[in-house]
Amino acid sequence: MENFYKKNIQMALEEFDNEKAKENFEKYNKMMAYYKCAMMEIETKFNVLNEEFSLQYDRNPINGMKSRLKNPISMKEKLERKNLNFSVEDAEKNLNDIAGIRVICSFYDDVYMLADALLKQDDITLVEKKDYIKNPKPNGYRSLHLIVSVPIFLEKEKRMMKVEIQLRTIAMDFWASLEHQLRYKKDFEFTDEMGKELLECATLSAELDGRMNKLREKTFKE
Ligand code: GTP
Ligand code: MG
Repeated sequence: MENFYKKNIQMALEEFDNEKAKENFEKYNKMMAYYKCAMMEIETKFNVLNEEFSLQYDRNPINGMKSRLKNPISMKEKLERKNLNFSVEDAEKNLNDIAGIRVICSFYDDVYMLADALLKQDDITLVEKKDYIKNPKPNGYRSLHLIVSVPIFLEKEKRMMKVEIQLRTIAMDFWASLEHQLRYKKDFEFTDEMGKELLECATLSAELDGRMNKLREKTFKE
C-alpha cells in the first residue's frame, strides 16, 4: 500500500498504546487493501462497458474515471462526527465512502445507461441511490450517487465491500470541481451572492447538457 496511507493510518492511530496501535494498524492496512480491490472491480466493470460500447457504437460513454480511497484522517474525523470509534468494525459498518469512484460521462443519457448496466449485473447489490440530477441540491450540485456492494474473492473467502460511485457528465463535473475550489478556499468568506451566482451557473450548465444530449440523439442512433 502507498506510503501516504501508512503514514496517515499511523497518525490517526497515534493515541493508542503501542501494542493496540500495531494491531489496529495491521487491521487497517488489510481493510484498505480490500477496499482497493473492490474499487478495482468496479473500475473494471465500467471499463468493460465502455469497451463494449465503443465496439458496438463507435463512441465512448465514459470520458474519464477517478478513484480514491478515503484518507484515514478524514475517516477518523467522520467517525468522530457520528460519535463512533475509529475502528475497522465501525468504519466498515458506518462509512459508505471509504472507496469512491467518480465516472465522468460524455452525455446526460450515458449517466443512466451506465448506472442501469452496472446495477443489472448479478454480483452487484444496490445499497443506496441518491439522484441529485433529477433532484439537484439547493446549491445546484448535480450527480447520480450510488452505494453498491460488490464481492471480492480472496484466497479463502468472499467478502462483500461497499463502494461509492458518483456518475456525472463533463458539465456536472466542471461545475462541481470549481464549486468545491471556490467554496472551500481558506481565509475567504463565501457570500450568499456568490452562492446565487454559482446556482445560476449550474442551471446554465444543465441546459447545455440538455442541448448536447439532443445533438447526440440526432447524431448517434443507438
Ligand atoms: P457526506 O459523505 O458526509 O458528505 O454525506 P453523504 O454521504 O450523505 O453525502 P452525499 O452523498 O450527498 O455526497 C457525498 C459526496 O458527493 C461528497 O463527498 C462530494 O464528493 C459530493 N458532493 C455532495 N454535495 C456536493 C456539493 O454541493 N458540491 C460538490 N462539489 N460536491 C458535492
Ligand atoms: Mg458520503
